[in-house]
Amino acid sequence: MSAGKLKIYAGKVIAIDGPAGSGKSTIARKIAERLGFEYLDTGAMYRAVAWVMREEKLDPDKLDDFEYMRNNWNMTFHYDGTRTVVHDGSRDISEDIRNEEITAASSAVALRPRVREFMVALQQQRIARGSVVLEGRDTGTIVAPRAHVKIFLVADPRTRAERRFLEYMRNGIATSVEEQLEKMAERDRQDSGRSIGPLAKAPDAIVVDTTELNIEEAVEAVLKVCKTRMSPATTSGGRQ
Ligand code: DC
Repeated sequence: MSAGKLKIYAGKVIAIDGPAGSGKSTIARKIAERLGFEYLDTGAMYRAVAWVMREEKLDPDKLDDFEYMRNNWNMTFHYDGTRTVVHDGSRDISEDIRNEEITAASSAVALRPRVREFMVALQQQRIARGSVVLEGRDTGTIVAPRAHVKIFLVADPRTRAERRFLEYMRNGIATSVEEQLEKMAERDRQDSGRSIGPLAKAPDAIVVDTTELNIEEAVEAVLKVCKTRMSPATTSGGRQ
């Protein structure tokens, strides 16, 4: 699509939520690329919190430790065309935040209300500028309740576990589909069950089931929804 044609979408906000393995990250990145938007990986931000807590031996339940983390927060996030690059100051922690330990710890740290409040404030600073696709668990409900487009991705648990298994295999991490099925069920339970900012579909989100779709098909399905919702005839001026 030409840059001229994309201009009609400039400034819009797209919120994509869903459980692990639903295809969220890949789809959100590709949608951002196709529309010339920025991509905001909110999960990477919770992972960075979990990483720094562990690195600095901080306890998220202790107010002083949390304040220390917040006052010294020096994380930057950008998408380099293939992955979210995360720096703590000058240190590249992009790989470190993806290991299994930090994956589990990020879900646990994301239960803390003060952590969520801090993250949501940072995310809202970014979406105020528009032209962004954000991806996570609560982006359509809490972070950007007035997003122009809200998508909730779903897929059956086995398909999600198989996708996660293949991803780990590609990265040289030994695991099994059964193990991923179990870990995912636990993470889903934790992410959906928390009282603040749970994994949830916004009432006005469009559900896209990716179980039977390959990535290209899923991207096309989501892009179609985005374009319809963002077309001048259907938008009502919503923002964050
Ligand atoms: O999307 P992800 O797997 O990288 O996210 C890591 C964890 O962060 C996930 O288990 C739940 C948490 N998270 C969250 O609570 N809210 C978000 N908007 C994004 C992620």
